[in-house]
Amino acid sequence: MQLGLAGKTCIVTGASRGIGRETARLLADDGAEVLLAARNPDGLAAALIDCPGGATLAIDITEPDAGERLVAAALEQFGRLDVVVNNAGAARRRDLDEVSDDDFYAAFELNVMAPHRLMRAAIPVMVSNRWGRVVNVSSTAGKRPSAAMPEYSVTKAAELSLSRLYADRYAAAGVLVNAVCPGPVASEMWMAPGGLLDQSVAADGHPDRRSALDAAGSSRPIGRLAEVGEIAATIVFLCSERASYVAGSAWGIDGGTVQVII
Ligand SMILES: NC(=O)c1ccc[n+]([C@@H]2O[C@H](COP(=O)([O-])OP(=O)(O)OC[C@H]3O[C@@H](n4cnc5c(N)ncnc54)[C@H](OP(=O)(O)O)[C@@H]3O)[C@@H](O)[C@H]2O)c1
Repeated sequence: MQLGLAGKTCIVTGASRGIGRETARLLADDGAEVLLAARNPDGLAAALIDCPGGATLAIDITEPDAGERLVAAALEQFGRLDVVVNNAGAARRRDLDEVSDDDFYAAFELNVMAPHRLMRAAIPVMVSNRWGRVVNVSSTAGKRPSAAMPEYSVTKAAELSLSRLYADRYAAAGVLVNAVCPGPVASEMWMAPGGLLDQSVAADGHPDRRSALDAAGSSRPIGRLAEVGEIAATIVFLCSERASYVAGSAWGIDGGTVQVII
């Protein structure tokens, strides 16, 4: 199946590693030009090797003008903008009682305000072309809160609501906005030293990383964590010409984790 992404131009946030890096690679593989954004310039430079014709912007997406700067950079580099993937994110385990007000506000900036500002800046450009795609990367935790990640869960739920608002507003103008809700993914977020896997070992009393990984995998129908490519493939489909009748969705990519039908 041809995805029809050749000649499209895209912004992917959080593209220095993990799901975002693989999403950028798959978009470029299909012939799109990609602006890769994240804070770490070295990670971006490494990711760019797999994205011929692409460009990078080292930026903290929680800065108030980040959305406008990203769109300006894409237009300057490529002359047009067709696709945005709001993917940048961060997570850590904590009890609800340990989450400070500042932590809640920081998560809101990262998971709600940053995608909001980027959509607000990017979508008018897409509307002028009568074609656009936005994918907001939320989480299963946005569909049903994870007790271990309170501010993450609350703000990922808010991101789903935001995504739906934009979807309803712009679908008739040819700009299709969707969200995805991955379950646990074996990206650096989980697997890096000190990441969610190590935090699970410490918090849940597992003897080692292997046991913690087995427990995280076996608690869902598919029996394992996702690989980044399994999430990126769905994101790229939603970015494509082929997803021409999908709007306002919040697709689970979770191996059956959230056991609801709707
Ligand atoms: N891994 C999972 O289990 C899982 C499950 C459900 C949903 N998700 C969601 O999937 C998305 C990607 O996660 P991942 O697993 O690929 O995580 P990851 O491997 O930790 O990568 C996160 C990416 O976000 C970037 N980033 C973080 N804060 C940023 C900021 N303030 N400004 C710009 N870039 C920032 C990081 O780059 P720099 O550090 O270079 O800035 C990195 O490129 C996130 O939204 C996450 O919440 C992940």
